[in-house]
Amino acid sequence: MSQKTILVTGSDSWIGKWIAQLAHQEWWKVIVHSKTDTDELKNIHKDLEWSDKLFFDISDQETVKKEIWEYIKHHGCIDCLINNAGVKTVDIKKIEEFDGKKSLAEREVNVLWSLYCMQSVIPAMQKKWGWSIVNIASMKWIPQLSTISSITYAAAKAWVLSITRSIAKTYGKDNIRCNAISPGYIQTGRSQKWSDETKERIDWGILLSRLGTPDDIAPVALFLAWDEAKYITGENILVDWGYMLKGK
Ligand SMILES: NC(=O)c1ccc[n+]([C@@H]2O[C@H](COP(=O)([O-])OP(=O)(O)OC[C@H]3O[C@@H](n4cnc5c(N)ncnc54)[C@H](OP(=O)(O)O)[C@@H]3O)[C@@H](O)[C@H]2O)c1
Repeated sequence: MSQKTILVTGSDSWIGKWIAQLAHQEWWKVIVHSKTDTDELKNIHKDLEWSDKLFFDISDQETVKKEIWEYIKHHGCIDCLINNAGVKTVDIKKIEEFDGKKSLAEREVNVLWSLYCMQSVIPAMQKKWGWSIVNIASMKWIPQLSTISSITYAAAKAWVLSITRSIAKTYGKDNIRCNAISPGYIQTGRSQKWSDETKERIDWGILLSRLGTPDDIAPVALFLAWDEAKYITGENILVDWGYMLKGK
């Protein structure tokens, strides 16, 4: 089978970087991406032989279309899109702290980015009859895990799951699969900012008493991306080491 091309958004950092590295090991042609041309992006591009590099702000619809279409025009179809880039910027302790503007900005990146990227790759996938999209959500959409600190992040990630199903349903006839992953608490740059309350909740809730790591997520993303999962679409895989069973 010929080499397939995979675009991993936000691949200069933690989970996205692991997905890009593992994809490279598994013989994908990787397109690494970040908002700007960071040193981390330059390094990963250099490390991953035969990779390509794109940098653009995914919260801008026209920029996303332009960059992705230009890439497809010059290099051919993107076979797989991993919508990994995301932010959690709203972190409140009581409703008085709620700030609509901040919340909308968070939602824009987490929800609209995935739609902009999908909108840009799907027409070429349709022409080529197929391949796959994986959206990185979060376990925070699960009702019993609701917290005030994730009041808008959880809703944004629930929306990502809804979008995943809509795309799977609409484009299944074109042999395009669309799935999601909901990671639990993963050790990344974000975990350094967790409050004591969050840390306590994690200690109590994770059955294995260890945080997840980006290498717990990357193989699941690539399983869903690849042909091994060719009969799976519209699905969401929770990767949380049982947190949902016990967590609060
Ligand atoms: N860490 C966790 O515990 C956890 C749990 C559940 C789900 N997740 C989800 O997993 C994904 C990756 O998480 P992570 O912890 O690895 O995050 P991270 O280290 O903060 O990485 C986020 C990536 O998204 C990119 N990004 C953010 N805003 C962007 C924008 N407007 N345009 C383009 N790129 C943008 C960042 O690029 P720059 O560096 O250039 O800003 C960065 O590469 C996210 O979707 C997150 O919500 C994480």
